[in-house]
Amino acid sequence: MERTLWWDGPLDRLRLIDQTLLPGRYESIPIPDIDALVEAIQSLRVRGAPALGVAGAYGVALAARTADSGCYLENVGGLAKRVRSARPTAVNLAWGVDRALAAIGETTAPDEVAAVTLAEAERIADGDIATNRALGAQGAALLPDDATVLTHCNAGALACVGWGTALGVVRSAVEAGKRVRVIACETRPLLQGARLTAFELQRDGIPVTVCPDSAGAELMREGGIDAVIVGADRVTRDAVFNKVGTYAHAIAAKHHGIPFYVAAPTSSLDPFLSGAEVEIEERGRSEVACLCGTPTVPDGVPVRNPAFDLTPINLVTAVITERGVFRDPKELFAAWRS
Ligand code: MRU
Repeated sequence: MERTLWWDGPLDRLRLIDQTLLPGRYESIPIPDIDALVEAIQSLRVRGAPALGVAGAYGVALAARTADSGCYLENVGGLAKRVRSARPTAVNLAWGVDRALAAIGETTAPDEVAAVTLAEAERIADGDIATNRALGAQGAALLPDDATVLTHCNAGALACVGWGTALGVVRSAVEAGKRVRVIACETRPLLQGARLTAFELQRDGIPVTVCPDSAGAELMREGGIDAVIVGADRVTRDAVFNKVGTYAHAIAAKHHGIPFYVAAPTSSLDPFLSGAEVEIEERGRSEVACLCGTPTVPDGVPVRNPAFDLTPINLVTAVITERGVFRDPKELFAAWRS
């Protein structure tokens, strides 16, 4: 599978697969400036924590090319700040922006700033695939030879530059000769599971079945699920943030004695915060109150649309990272520091 986002050399601009078109159309769009990038992030044309980190870094390279020349570095910083705050929950977005900004160092000439920020963004993009490969190999060892894995949202190649985190574990297990089937929860309201996880697994020939989010606990009760594996937007010292619905799967998995794994690169770790300090993105009414353009909630009835939820870390069997599998959060954050 091609990369989800990449630097288009001839255009000297960012290009990405527009995920709002999937599964119907697999098409890339150019991102000419920061307005377009912020729009693409907020409308989920590009989404998933690792992909957001890379988009953030490329955003700084874009800022370096489009900032006004008067007070140039200040303007680059201002544009980068807009990208950094485009969505609040995935820590990777800020991480990617900050890494590319740090690459500027003492450089001041616009051509050089453009070159060093792009070089750093390309390093982060290449690193994403290497990281996910390493993480996938760590996680694959946890799965039995014949396994059914339940997942939520899309933590696959489309949520990263490639390979995926939760789905990277599945891909690595399949590559190692294991027979793995995936149950993809549809992931209301934007259907990342039904649209994206099902699309990319079908394309790779990995068996996938889609179910409503609310069917997850029932499938666990019936006994056909060997493991739940999800991605993360942020792992604090006491909690995991991921697509809303994850928490309910974690509770159900605990109840049924099924391992609940979080697959996340170390760029998603945020040990300085507790869960209570993290902002959960609240999205617009129309995503919940409309289905294919038809209203489904009476006018005047309010809705809630938190995009993520908080899963207490004690419900997590292990966090799978590129540096190892951690059952104890203290060891996880010690590895992050080292
Ligand atoms: O709103 P989204 O689609 O950006 O949410 C994505 C998720 O919740 C993913 O599970 C998470 O970012 C991990 S992606 C490897």
